[in-house]
Amino acid sequence: MKQLRRRQFIALGTSAAGTLLLLQGRLFQSKAQPSSPSSTEDSAEEGLVEVFLEASYGTVNIGGQSAQLFSYNGQIPGPKIEARPGDTVRIRFSNNLPEPTNLHYHGLHVPPTGNADNVFLNIPSGEVFTYEFTIPDDHPGGTFYYHPHLHGWVARQVFGGLGGIFVIRGEMDEIPEIEAAREVFLFLKDFALDASGRVPAPHHMEQMLGREGPLVTVSGQSNLDLSIPRGGLLRLRLINASNARFYRLTLEDHPLYLIATDGISLSEPVELRELLLTPGERADVLVRGEREPGQYRLLDLPYNRGGMGMMGRGMGSGMMGPMGRGRMGPRMGPGTDFSSGGGTARTLATLTYRGQVESMALPRQLIPVEALPEPQTVRRFSLNHGMRPGMGMAFLINGYTFNHQRIDTRVSLNTVEDWEIANTGTMDHPFHLHTNPFQVISRDGRAEAFRAWKDTVLVRPGEVVRLRVRFADFPGKAVYHCHILDHEDLGMMGIIQMQGGN
Ligand code: C2O
Ligand code: CU
Ligand code: CU
Repeated sequence: MKQLRRRQFIALGTSAAGTLLLLQGRLFQSKAQPSSPSSTEDSAEEGLVEVFLEASYGTVNIGGQSAQLFSYNGQIPGPKIEARPGDTVRIRFSNNLPEPTNLHYHGLHVPPTGNADNVFLNIPSGEVFTYEFTIPDDHPGGTFYYHPHLHGWVARQVFGGLGGIFVIRGEMDEIPEIEAAREVFLFLKDFALDASGRVPAPHHMEQMLGREGPLVTVSGQSNLDLSIPRGGLLRLRLINASNARFYRLTLEDHPLYLIATDGISLSEPVELRELLLTPGERADVLVRGEREPGQYRLLDLPYNRGGMGMMGRGMGSGMMGPMGRGRMGPRMGPGTDFSSGGGTARTLATLTYRGQVESMALPRQLIPVEALPEPQTVRRFSLNHGMRPGMGMAFLINGYTFNHQRIDTRVSLNTVEDWEIANTGTMDHPFHLHTNPFQVISRDGRAEAFRAWKDTVLVRPGEVVRLRVRFADFPGKAVYHCHILDHEDLGMMGIIQMQGGN
């Protein structure tokens, strides 16, 4: 594979304070990224990816308008971090937010402890902290995601703008058909802005359902321009970086060929008409330029993610469905339609045919997904919400809200477990586990159509999803939670302790 591997400095942006922030170390040129803004040979250590990341609050242009938001290095999405298996990633992180924060590397199989992917760290305002971890040699290549993860602050900070793409370049990128495809990252994120371009404080009900905003952006733009040559192949790398919004994606007249879920390759492409992406989920799809030249819209179709009990989907549309598709007006009330069930499709991007190439084939085989052995342990987790006297709604796993001091689940390394995730509430909950990917075995007892690695899976009201996970390599504490970030902040998270075992 002909990737340029050179040592270089790349200017990633300018902070609010005007400081130039640099990324150094090994970087890769892909076809999607024309040449770097600047590059110089330097003496950066081989195998070291060093990133300077600054979280701050300030003016950012989003979806064509100027807004006051949180961002990394002044950019939304934050700078794309790229590494390869075996690399050491060192992130020099400055918290210039007016509040504490931290970083999480969603989907990466790296230690959850120390100064690696440790969500229990608290980096106070004004502090600098160096994260460092090594990507295992056998780490799959794929699309991952970084975002803040300080319990209680996550929904606010992500809705305020924070998040970025973390790519591992690996085996999958070397499959000839995939290597030949044009690569585009689609970072899906919605915003709510008031007349002065600020994020308004959320209404109580919005927090319950999870914040959504009417300004829906793809990689910071509304209606992103995508192009494909006739006969060509496009690799869309999708990340749902939104707090709560689900994307039900379809591309007019074009099937989507799914090649990776939550970053990791499938064993062969799966043809889809429609793809549902819940918060935290990623998907890589291929698109073939096989239609009449013209313009085709990438659409987000309406989706109803449930509501709160009596006012939820049981009542049909017209009352309080999910917040949403149409931002909740100044205040909700009868007669206002918040249900996306009755909403309309939204255009996220437009694909335009430009030019022509000799017809490019789809890959037939990708990377085998191993079958995990039968589990040694089966556990059940029930997701629900309830009322806390005087405090309103609480979001629960097995009846508990998150407690920093409590270990909820103890597992032994090098064992395989099945987890049955039961949603006994009335809203959809995308369930996410840190550190180790899993495979979905069944949904309400029905086997999954194909084997795939996942780290986040949707569990609908009344459903039981059975997933299988092998705890490998890393001891320590990590978390599992609902990836509707307000639900996580309101308590729908538990702590898992992985300990040396057999
Ligand atoms: Cu994307 Cu625990 O998070
Ligand atoms: Cu995560
Ligand atoms: Cu939830």
